[in-house]
Amino acid sequence: MADYDFDVLVIGAGPGGYVAAIRAAQLGLKVACAEARETLGGTCLNVGCIPSKALLHASELFEEAQSGALARLGVKIDSMSLDLDAMHGQRLDAVKQLTGGIEYLFKKNKVEWLKGRASFEGKDMVKVGDRSVRARNIVIATGSSVMPLPGVTVDDEAIVDSTSALELPKVPGHMVVIGGGVIGLELGSVWKRLGAKVTVVEFLDQILPGMDGEVRKEANKIFKRQGFTFKLSTKVTGATRDGAGVTLTVEPAAGGAPETIAADVVLVAIGRRANTEGLALDKAGLAVNGRGQVEIDHEFRTLVPGIWAIGDVVPGPMLAHKAEDEGIAVAENIAGLTGIVNHDVIPSVVYTAPEIAGVGLTEEQARERAKEAGGDIKVGKFPMMANSRAKTNHEPDGFVKVIADATSDKVLGVWMIAVPAGVMIAQAAQAMEFGATSEDIAYTCHAHPTHAEAFKEAAMAVRGKPIHI
Ligand code: FAD
Ligand code: NAI
Repeated sequence: MADYDFDVLVIGAGPGGYVAAIRAAQLGLKVACAEARETLGGTCLNVGCIPSKALLHASELFEEAQSGALARLGVKIDSMSLDLDAMHGQRLDAVKQLTGGIEYLFKKNKVEWLKGRASFEGKDMVKVGDRSVRARNIVIATGSSVMPLPGVTVDDEAIVDSTSALELPKVPGHMVVIGGGVIGLELGSVWKRLGAKVTVVEFLDQILPGMDGEVRKEANKIFKRQGFTFKLSTKVTGATRDGAGVTLTVEPAAGGAPETIAADVVLVAIGRRANTEGLALDKAGLAVNGRGQVEIDHEFRTLVPGIWAIGDVVPGPMLAHKAEDEGIAVAENIAGLTGIVNHDVIPSVVYTAPEIAGVGLTEEQARERAKEAGGDIKVGKFPMMANSRAKTNHEPDGFVKVIADATSDKVLGVWMIAVPAGVMIAQAAQAMEFGATSEDIAYTCHAHPTHAEAFKEAAMAVRGKPIHI
């Protein structure tokens, strides 16, 4: 290895970085991973996917009991109350176990954990804490952080971001969420279920940008029925602390008369931005693009040979499973294998109740592309109301939609709102990865009674022949 300390140095131990490090070690390379946090696992395990899902699960059970939904099924609870400390305790426990699990995997695979913040000293030199290391390959996997909103300064008390919103010591009376995206709806759901009134202020004219249009509309309807208040096409122009609470000033996005909203807690959830500050990319000969991200080619190579990048710090959806798959692929490319990620088939899930999931093109995108190519699409839809398992479980909301090429019948996209959509979407992703037609799905035997049968029926509907509607 001549004078290199490592074959691979990964910067950042999130789902992208820790997976890249483990895979590279599995492939026989000498690997180190630098991480600035006290624990491994990145945003996802420490302050993202994992703690949010622990609270989503617990708050859903609370609401089922509290709202009388369980009583309607014959499960009568005579007295119940919220133990928020215990709910936070199980969240912290999930985080501890999973971050500790990565530490165990590092030891098992002989990945050296370099504790501290990393910055480039040259194309193959990185300083971590007070140690300088030289690596033949360097993978930038530094992830992303909360996008700040000018005029609304997060103080982690009354004005919170996604991290401090996980840790509120009491349920707010009125929570105003700025941003009707994934974080706003997931964390808004948690606190609404526990008793908060939740208002979502969204700049655009609809929530959940980037998702299928019909799904966005239906989700809006369902969340409104659940008690969310939406102020769409509205921008926040300022926030002032007002005793224990906050007064927000908002106005129509297109301009117009301002108004104020009083909140006990304001959650800023307007997106995330790539982490490159302090990395001294210039010392490695790298620069960021206009959106602050590190540009890469199809094999995750940056412009500088030997430096690679993956996950939230590069363009593309900011999702843990996308980062993980890129982590495996980059390690395989470094080892001389062919690592591939099919970026056309990355599922996304919003873990509300019901869940919202999609993979591939939206109907709008598919129509646009077909028009450009002189072709057409066919769309099949099946409502969850007509699915027998959804019926037995009293889960009538939502639908499954399959979008296929009108000529080849190849599935181009699948979108769904259904209680277990996060699990159901895996089948759609696999079918698309295998190049399935809607007919392939329609003629695949699905177990009965399952929610997944709605996917089969939506596929049947592409050709106009579902059975149960
Ligand atoms: P990160 O997980 O951000 O990890 C990067 C790591 O690099 C961090 O630990 C950071 O400390 C470290 N680092 C940065 N700079 C340096 C440096 N200079 N030196 C050393 N270390 C450094 N995605 C999903 O797919 N599903 C979900 O359910 C989901 N829920 C989420 C919920 C919330 C509240 C949030 C905020 C995000 C959620 N995400 C979810 C997104 C997901 O967390 C990210 O897409 C994912 O963590 C990205 O992985 P990554 O490895 O690229 O970066
Ligand atoms: P987002 O991009 O999903 O949503 C942000 C929303 O804020 C958008 O609707 C946008 O139009 C709106 N907005 C922007 N500026 C605004 C302003 N000034 N006033 C009002 N509204 C404004 O970002 P979010 O929710 O912060 O999530 C960040 C990332 O984290 C997402 O990209 C997502 O990929 C990831 N994530 C994924 C989860 C999952 O997979 N289940 C869960 C949580 C986060």
